[in-house]
Amino acid sequence: MKTPLELALSCPKAELHVHIEGTLEPELAFALARRNGIALPHADIDALRAAYDFADLQSFLDLYYACADVLRTEADFHDLMLAYLQRARADGVVHAEIFFDPQTHTARGIPFETVLRGLEAGAAEAREAWGMSTQLILCFLRHLPETDAEATLEAALPFIDRIHGFGLDSSERGHPPAKFARVFERCRALGKPVVAHAGEEGPPAYIVEALDVLKVARIDHGVRASEDPALLDRLAREAMPLTVCPLSNVRLRVFEEMREHSLPALLARGLVVTLNSDDPAYFGGYLGNNLRAVQQAFDFDAATWKTLLGNSFRASFIDPARRAAWLAEVERHFA
Ligand code: HPA
Ligand code: ZN
Repeated sequence: MKTPLELALSCPKAELHVHIEGTLEPELAFALARRNGIALPHADIDALRAAYDFADLQSFLDLYYACADVLRTEADFHDLMLAYLQRARADGVVHAEIFFDPQTHTARGIPFETVLRGLEAGAAEAREAWGMSTQLILCFLRHLPETDAEATLEAALPFIDRIHGFGLDSSERGHPPAKFARVFERCRALGKPVVAHAGEEGPPAYIVEALDVLKVARIDHGVRASEDPALLDRLAREAMPLTVCPLSNVRLRVFEEMREHSLPALLARGLVVTLNSDDPAYFGGYLGNNLRAVQQAFDFDAATWKTLLGNSFRASFIDPARRAAWLAEVERHFA
């Protein structure tokens, strides 16, 4: 008899909230720095890993943007994508919807097309080798003005068929979703689904704004919804998915310990919760480690795991026939 955790780990699953720049492991960061003849702000791999001690979201973002400087060529983005998908596959991920932050790269003079082509090449290799499917979600950086996001959308337009949707990330506090009302309206007019980080460090009101103003199809994080009973009712009624990232939330001190995480409360309200790794190189592991940490804290039964892993497909942007097929697989897996 398999334990609920063993069943969960071996179940096919989708990952819906992972920043490709956040999958940059220290080993690869130093290898790319060497390849590109540039220096990192840390002496070696151990020194860099020792810096992964974050007080909040901003202290993480400062290091995340600094490390992204080693990503320069199409080959670098290819290697980054392939390394992530290889690790995700080991955790049973069959489909991944992956965030990328073009502004982090175009601001350093890296062409948008270099980033996109590299990421696509890595994804194509994983599709051919392992049958994994991927979709790219372009995230706008919310600490920058909306006009910068508009310019990024312009740069993306020639490649729009290769971008599945749009998101909003970076420093949440002081940068409410409504700051990006106009650019998100343009994204939706292009027929693209939109998502936004909300209620990670920011208040529940930012989740409401993401729903009402940005008209998102999913909320990224959303864990602070637990502070607002009326919002919980609405999220349940609208079956609005939350892409929850447990290890991220503990590492960034949204919750001091996993046992204090709002995940059980969100599940108890019947919300469509999914589990994800966010920035796995920085937060203590990929999706499998997130599942292990959750199980250690909450000891979920097999039925709860079936719901969580089924939700990863229910909340995904894959086409309805493939969604139904994967849901049937999950059902068989837990039968
Ligand atoms: N929150 C906001 N922005 C981000 C994150 C995150 O966890 N990771 C990368 N960009
Ligand atoms: Zn995130």
